[in-house]
Amino acid sequence: MKRTIFVASLLALGATVAIAQSDVVEQRQNLMKQMGAQTRPIGGMLRGQEPFDLAKVQAGLKVFADNSEKAASLFPENTKGAPKTEALPTIWENKAKFEGILTKFNQDAKTAMASIKDEATFKAEMPKVMQNCGACHNDFRKKS
Ligand code: HEC
Repeated sequence: MKRTIFVASLLALGATVAIAQSDVVEQRQNLMKQMGAQTRPIGGMLRGQEPFDLAKVQAGLKVFADNSEKAASLFPENTKGAPKTEALPTIWENKAKFEGILTKFNQDAKTAMASIKDEATFKAEMPKVMQNCGACHNDFRKKS
């Protein structure tokens, strides 16, 4: 009897951990998706395929700054190898580097918010922000 209760509570605990784990993965993926949505108009403007729009650029940078801050706590070690994640185990083997890129990305976004005033400053500053996406994905995200 005691043993049954023990096993049952262990199973319940396991289920809670699994739910919490997929929750965290989903939350960080949603933050990333929001950033991905912002890169479409920004990329179009950088390539000159879309007219420059300072308000859209600033709105995108705000999403980058806010979401990178929120994402910082959403990579706990217990999500290593979680189902449906594209996060590579290298994140936890190289946590300092991963967090360093995330922090740099956050700071670059804030710096760009202050320095981008027109199309010329946009073309000079924006690529510095965007290169962080690829720098992190190269090392820390599964290639699809
Ligand atoms: C510090 C690392 C880091 C930075 C910086 C970063 N990403 Fe990511 N990104 C990840 C990781 C890790 C994943 C995989 C998350 C998962 O599946 O659990 C990911 C996933 C994604 C996804 C897929 C989300 C989904 O599941 O549909 C998109 C889109 C994305 N990132 C866009 C961006 C864009 C755009 C930028 C820059 C503006 C960016 N990321 C910056 C690490 C980063």
